[in-house]
Amino acid sequence: MGRQNGVTVWFTGLSGAGKTTIALGVEKILKKRGFYVERLDGDIVRETLTADLGFTKEDRDTNIRRNVFVAGLLTRNDVITLCSFISPYRETRAYARKQIERVGAFIEVFVNSPLSVCEKRDVKGLYQKARRGEIRNFTGISAPYELPLDYELELKTDRETAEESITRVINYLEEKDYISPLADNDNK
Ligand code: ADX
Repeated sequence: MGRQNGVTVWFTGLSGAGKTTIALGVEKILKKRGFYVERLDGDIVRETLTADLGFTKEDRDTNIRRNVFVAGLLTRNDVITLCSFISPYRETRAYARKQIERVGAFIEVFVNSPLSVCEKRDVKGLYQKARRGEIRNFTGISAPYELPLDYELELKTDRETAEESITRVINYLEEKDYISPLADNDNK
């Protein structure tokens, strides 16, 4: 197995921007290469760890705080932790960075796709519901998304394929020495 250092990769962006798809792709590659990796995803943890929470600012902040706690435990044990949450508030993302950096490294990845593109895709049909007023506090429609200023990587998912985005994350992890690159005789 290759060498790895504790790091949380924090994917932030609108619903439908591609956070989950990219995190899944990164996870698959890292696992194939034998790294310990764990994924925390809004759609999953909101059915378990944070099933009691909604989408007010307060609840979103609680959602992030609980997940930062878990991500911190994993990161301090050198697990590569992939977090995909809308995490729309700058201050809350800064909190995540601060907590994680106490125990390891934090990489903020801005999964950037314009609202119009996310809304057009509307994979889960939620934008339509939000426009009709059937869902309240919907990010981008009736709740804010504060654009990241302080990110390590930006993935323009309306202009690059998921494969390209995934490769860029892997390359970044290698360049910054969070994971060892593939040895020449390893299979890709
Ligand atoms: S966060 O704001 O607290 O970071 P999180 O990433 O966990 O959000 O959950 C977002 C997911 O919840 C969306 O992808 C969507 O499927 C669902 N969802 C349901 N209601 C809302 C809402 N009001 N705003 C945003 N996402 C919502």
